[in-house]
Amino acid sequence: MRRIRLNLLPGLEVEFTDRDGALRQVEDWAGEGTRWPIVIFGPEGCGKSAFLRQAAAMLRDLGYDVVYVDPLHRFFAAHTDVDEVVRRLADAASEAFGVAQLKLATLAIDAVRELLARWGRKRVAVLVDEVFQAIGVDKAGIYVKSLLNLIEYPPRSYEGIVAVVATSEGVTRGEIGRHRWAHLTPMWNMAKEGFRQLYDKISRPKPPFEEVWRWTGGNPNLLLELYKRSWSVDAVVKALIRDKELTSSFIAKWRRWLEEAVEDPEALWSPDAPEELIKQLVEKNLIVYNMYYRDPYFWIDQPPPERDPELGIGRNVAWQTPLHREAVRRALREA
Ligand SMILES: Nc1ncnc2c1ncn2[C@@H]1O[C@H](COP(=O)(O)OP(=O)(O)OP(=O)(O)O)[C@@H](O)[C@H]1O
Ligand SMILES: [Mg+2]
Repeated sequence: MRRIRLNLLPGLEVEFTDRDGALRQVEDWAGEGTRWPIVIFGPEGCGKSAFLRQAAAMLRDLGYDVVYVDPLHRFFAAHTDVDEVVRRLADAASEAFGVAQLKLATLAIDAVRELLARWGRKRVAVLVDEVFQAIGVDKAGIYVKSLLNLIEYPPRSYEGIVAVVATSEGVTRGEIGRHRWAHLTPMWNMAKEGFRQLYDKISRPKPPFEEVWRWTGGNPNLLLELYKRSWSVDAVVKALIRDKELTSSFIAKWRRWLEEAVEDPEALWSPDAPEELIKQLVEKNLIVYNMYYRDPYFWIDQPPPERDPELGIGRNVAWQTPLHREAVRRALREA
């Protein structure tokens, strides 16, 4: 099976690495389509976009016409020989900022509908990345519903429709979870052996693998962040404190609970844990709250372990990565 090449760093292209379980799932989807839109969520930088792009290429090879859009970055890829579809996507992408985002989001669905209705394609896939930030979280439900409509009431008979959406954890899960219009499917950071393969592709000098694993918990984006900051954990943690706005007032307000949570995130599962704090930690993309059962069936690729205190993973609540936890720990110390 073909693996796409990704631009990891300036001057470093790597092949899409590991995630074998996820790739088998794509093959399953290709069999009969997805039946529901699949909405993938998971820690920031865990590899959702890379996976979508890899899936797009695979589905093409498996006989699908594929439309992939990333409205937020005004990017699209159309794996089809219907030039008109490609042209319309290109036109939409070149529109002014703001307009392009909306157009790409709607056009992705329209294009696939047309591939079925007008061009007689039987196997079509629509893969949409970070669409909810582009169209507004309040419209996430409606967007997913229109994907479901496409699957349930297609304009013509078909052999397979694959519809997959990726989103950052936090913003949208509540909005989508309220309806039964999609399968919400989590994806975790890379498993240890797969992550080691990625680590091996970065040239020396670098810290020992075990150390990188303990900080990143297998998150490929943080591997890159550490690399770009000359492996300074300190610098990455400081950047996280700033980006997540772990201000002294935030810390002061929630100190007691945060102190417990850095020891064991599961503390936030207690019925007394303040809902407002949980909401904020989810929105800031620091934790994943309400983790699924670890049956591989519920997950894209391998699920995380049931519990891993070293990486900050609890049964129901987990820090997105150990570095996210470290940012909070350090903010607690300094406030
Ligand atoms: N399996 C993989 N093989 C090689 N590189 C990968 C893999 N997964 C992710 N990467 C690289 O790691 C970085 C982060 O991945 P990606 O952007 O896909 O994460 P994401 O989950 O979409 O993040 P965000 O939440 O910010 O949207 C990217 O540079 C990507 O190319
Ligand atoms: Mg992404």
